[in-house]
Formats: sequence, C-alpha cells, structure tokens
Amino acid sequence: MRANQPVTVADHVDWAEQRLTQSKVHSSHGCTSLRDESIWATLHVANLIDQEYEDVHDQNLSEIESSALRELVERRIETRKPLAYLIRESWFAGYAFYIDERAIVPRSHIGDLIQDGFGPWVNPAQIHRILDLCTGSGCIAVSLALCFPKASIDASDIDADALEVARINIERFQCNEQVRVVQSDLYDNLATQQYDLIVSNPPYIDSSWIDSLPKEYQHEPRHAFEAGEDGLDFAQRILSQSRNHLTDHGFLLMELGNSADELEAQFPNVPFLWLTSRSGESVVLLISAEELKMYESEFALP
Ligand SMILES: C[S@@+](CC[C@H](N)C(=O)[O-])C[C@H]1O[C@@H](n2cnc3c(N)ncnc32)[C@H](O)[C@@H]1O
Repeated sequence: MRANQPVTVADHVDWAEQRLTQSKVHSSHGCTSLRDESIWATLHVANLIDQEYEDVHDQNLSEIESSALRELVERRIETRKPLAYLIRESWFAGYAFYIDERAIVPRSHIGDLIQDGFGPWVNPAQIHRILDLCTGSGCIAVSLALCFPKASIDASDIDADALEVARINIERFQCNEQVRVVQSDLYDNLATQQYDLIVSNPPYIDSSWIDSLPKEYQHEPRHAFEAGEDGLDFAQRILSQSRNHLTDHGFLLMELGNSADELEAQFPNVPFLWLTSRSGESVVLLISAEELKMYESEFALP
C-alpha cells in the first residue's frame, strides 16, 4: 500500500465521503448524509454490515475490498443510481431487504413506527388482518409480519414488477405463510376484504415537482411518486375508500410526506393525528375507522 492511500475502514470512509462530496452526489434513499452513505458502502464491501462502525473503524481493508469500494464509489458517481440499487440491498425497520430498479428504494417513515411497535396507538392483541396498500418492495408488509407474527397480511400494488421484488423479500424472510401478494389498483381487487390495520405509503409527489428531483430519483419507477397536481390523488381515494375495508376498531396509517400540509389545507375540518418518527418528522397520519365514518362526506370523491 503506498503512502497516503486509505488503509483502515475509517480511512476508506473519509476517502469515499470526500469523493462523493467533490462529485456533488445527492445523498438520499435511506442515507441521511454522504458520510452515512460512505460508511454503508465501506462496511458493505468489507462484509462488516452487521457491525457498528465505531467497533470496526480501525480494522484494515484488504486490497480486494479497497478496490471494490473504489469501483462502487465511481459507479455511484457516474450513474447517480442510489447506492441501494448498486448493491441490491436496502435497510428498513432494522432489516436488510433485497431491492432493484423494479421497486422504489425503501425509506418510508413508517419503518421507524413499526420498529417502535406503533407506540400506544395500536393494540397488538387486536391486530389479526393487515393490508399494506401500495407495497412496492414489500418492505412494510414483511416488517409488519415480523412485528405481528400472528397476523395475516395482504401486500398489494398495481405494479407486477414491483410485486416480483416483494415476493423475493417475502421469501427472504420466510413469510410466505403469513403474507399474500395481491395485484390491485388500490382496493379494486380487494373488494370483499376487511382489515384491523391498513398501512400505506402511496405516491404523494405533485407532478410539477417530479422533474426537479435529483437524478437519483429518475432511476426509480415514476408511478411510485406521481400523485397529480396537488400530490393528493391517491391519499384522497384511500381516505374515501378505506372505511369499507376496516373492521369497526380498525385504523388507517398513511404516509403523506411533503403533501401533509396540502392535506391539512384541503380538509380543515378534520383533526388529523400525525405521528412523529425517530427523525422528528410528522408526515404519517393515523385515522380510525370511526373517524373515517364521521368525516365520510368530507372525504367523498367528487
Ligand atoms: C411510494 S411507493 C411505496 C412503496 C413501498 N410501500 C415503500 O414504502 O417503499 C408507492 C407504490 O404505490 C404503487 N402504486 C402506484 N399506483 C398504484 C395504484 N393505483 N394502486 C396500487 N398501487 C399503486 C407503486 O407501484 C409503488 O410501489
């Protein structure tokens, strides 16, 4: 190894961070910063992903690992693909999921809430049937299966390709008995089904914003984001149709991201409850079957 070349894990992380920063790569898709992304890439190539960075930062990388990191960082810069797509892996709710370009990279705030067992709002004893509406890679459905081992779960999405990725994850976590995959345009193929909990991270980006997103987002399926002029096309349909699919004590939990304010503006009479995730953002709403009934006329589609 020549002088000034990275030797330890920490050296390689510093090098990767500097290289990504110089190249103005956008950090996102499960990473909170380029430092975070550099640690993830380095631990990945060194096969240390199950370890805490602080515990291994002074270990040396082999020549092969060092060159694998250089190659990975250069591909990241050249293609602007999210790191998760390049390494076919993404962390969600504490688990490592398989991911590829057929489905959006898992990063929903719902992951934090699942890890926290949905705090005081959801009584696990009452959760027998769950729907993950707009499941994509199946990350929410599988994490829910692991969190509620006695519940049966439907994982639905309109996109057959995304559902192939969901099937891989269901297999990976051996949830085949517990999670059923359903191809459906929202509730169309779930007409007779009722659930104690419906969880959804639907598309919620307004169309005008999509083309201004960093290049990393262009590698993901556009229909996973796009939600009309106000970002609420899916949210409104879900709010108007979910009551019929919930048991009397059921809940709908839905992520709205940067369209949360628009929803508040459009329904000023509805006192939405926004749950705060570990990152401090309050963009996931919780609404009971009772409240959906109470505000039925507000949510009715024109
Ligand atoms: C924001 S992604 C969420 C994926 C996954 N649940 C997650 O959190 O990573 C939204 C998903 O909605 C799906 N979708 C788009 N239109 C749909 C529709 N009409 N009915 C059902 N799913 C739809 C997309 O295919 C995409 O997988």
